[in-house]
Amino acid sequence: MDFVTLNNGLKMPQLGFGVWQVEDEKATDAVAKALKSGYTSIDTAMIYKNEKGVGRAIKESGIPREDLFITTKVWNSDQGYDNTLRAYDESLERLGLDYVDLYLIHWPTPKYDQYVDTYKAMEKLYKEGRVKAIGVCNFDIEHLERLFAECEVKPVLNQVECHPYLAQNALKDFCAKHDIFVEAWSPLDQGGDVLKDDVIKAIAEAHGKTPAQVVLRWHLQNNTIAIPKSVTPSRIEENINVFDFALTSDEMDKINQLDCNRRKGSKPSEMNVR
Ligand SMILES: NC(=O)c1ccc[n+]([C@@H]2O[C@H](COP(=O)([O-])OP(=O)(O)OC[C@H]3O[C@@H](n4cnc5c(N)ncnc54)[C@H](OP(=O)(O)O)[C@@H]3O)[C@@H](O)[C@H]2O)c1
Repeated sequence: MDFVTLNNGLKMPQLGFGVWQVEDEKATDAVAKALKSGYTSIDTAMIYKNEKGVGRAIKESGIPREDLFITTKVWNSDQGYDNTLRAYDESLERLGLDYVDLYLIHWPTPKYDQYVDTYKAMEKLYKEGRVKAIGVCNFDIEHLERLFAECEVKPVLNQVECHPYLAQNALKDFCAKHDIFVEAWSPLDQGGDVLKDDVIKAIAEAHGKTPAQVVLRWHLQNNTIAIPKSVTPSRIEENINVFDFALTSDEMDKINQLDCNRRKGSKPSEMNVR
């Protein structure tokens, strides 16, 4: 496993395990399999409704807490200062933990204009040592700039949709300039067309690897954190088996050229669902 050092000094595995759309019961099995396969970073959220299942797998694994990196997120309807403090406690309760490593704002939901207050509550949790790091998801440059102007603690990362068809180059450049990591959600394009792309398939064949492994290498070599999800045991192993090969700069260029700004999820500026 490779690790990155976040802007507050905290080390984070560059590859983690996502559990969106995994029911609570199944999350226990999937996370148990992931932990056995060597993942130590797990990405959940209040809205995934599987924090309890994730927490069960963590407890049953017997892995020392300090060897794990657990992320959860404050959902849109819980935004606002007091709500966020309450939501954090409720997430900890469901997870069965006394802290998480990383707490994120799930979406800025700009229509409600509460993300600054939400972030200020997260700063309080951070300053009190109740969370190891704080960050955001789905923030456009303008939302980040607002945090820079009105808050004190820089987010350690911005978790956004990112894969070869949505490379997010402008946002990546902006985040790099401000020492903020980009973390890719749907790093495998949700198992979609990216994995069937001829360019990716040819590179995979050349390395004796799968398209998913090539896409994950592309993320890692771009200095991006990635959190692929799978409930399939063989794929859970496949997706972490990416530290024994490297793409050439020519192969990286070829994949970079696939960017076509094709999104699976919502545009952050338009997402206001609560
Ligand atoms: N912050 C946000 O707003 C946000 C939004 C979306 C996601 N996320 C986070 O990011 C994580 C990952 O994103 P995601 O779940 O949307 O998509 P993803 O990881 O890109 O893809 C998951 C899909 O790909 C399939 N898959 C996994 N490994 C594969 C492989 N090696 N070969 C072929 N297919 C494979 C999975 O199928 P099986 O499971 O059936 O194996 C599943 O259908 C989420 O779980 C969540 O933690 C965050």
